[in-house]
Amino acid sequence: MASIAVCPGSFDPVTFGHLDIIRRGAKVFDKVYVCVLNNSSKKPLFTVEERCGLLREVTKDIPNVQVESFQGLLIDYAKSKQANVILRGLRAVSDFEYEMQGTSMNKVLDENIETFFMMTNNQYSFLSSSIVKEVAKYKGSVAELVPEAVEAALEKKFAKNERP
Ligand code: PNS
Repeated sequence: MASIAVCPGSFDPVTFGHLDIIRRGAKVFDKVYVCVLNNSSKKPLFTVEERCGLLREVTKDIPNVQVESFQGLLIDYAKSKQANVILRGLRAVSDFEYEMQGTSMNKVLDENIETFFMMTNNQYSFLSSSIVKEVAKYKGSVAELVPEAVEAALEKKFAKNERP
């Protein structure tokens, strides 16, 4: 049986931390669907289409990765792809409680889909899309934190947002 994983997230925008998890996941699983989903507690900067476009750009060299979006429950998306695994990155202890809640909920919704966690590379343990947006908003350099395409998209977004 092929191992199919879904790597879900807001990806607003994708960072080197996300990319590290996606790349490593693609070595472990036969197929990885990277799925942009709605997190109801976040107000995104980029549209779903923009987030998918950036993800496609930065994962185009990984043949077994496919980027999609889904409006609805992660577990329904995973079922529609016959995925047996949900793949998430864990940065620090502070991520644990939030991840445990989501994982437990997903287990109630479908006990057959397992959630696998990968420790984020130490280099990226502090990194989040929120901190990247904060730095980019005030014109700090995010070159070490995100791929070039994302850096350019952030510059454009904040330049545009500044117009009266
Ligand atoms: O990158 P994030 O914001 O931590 O990702 C969270 C996300 C989008 C994976 C989560 O909010 C999600 O699964 N949303 C879809 C709705 C859903 O299935 N909710 C119940 C499980 S948390």
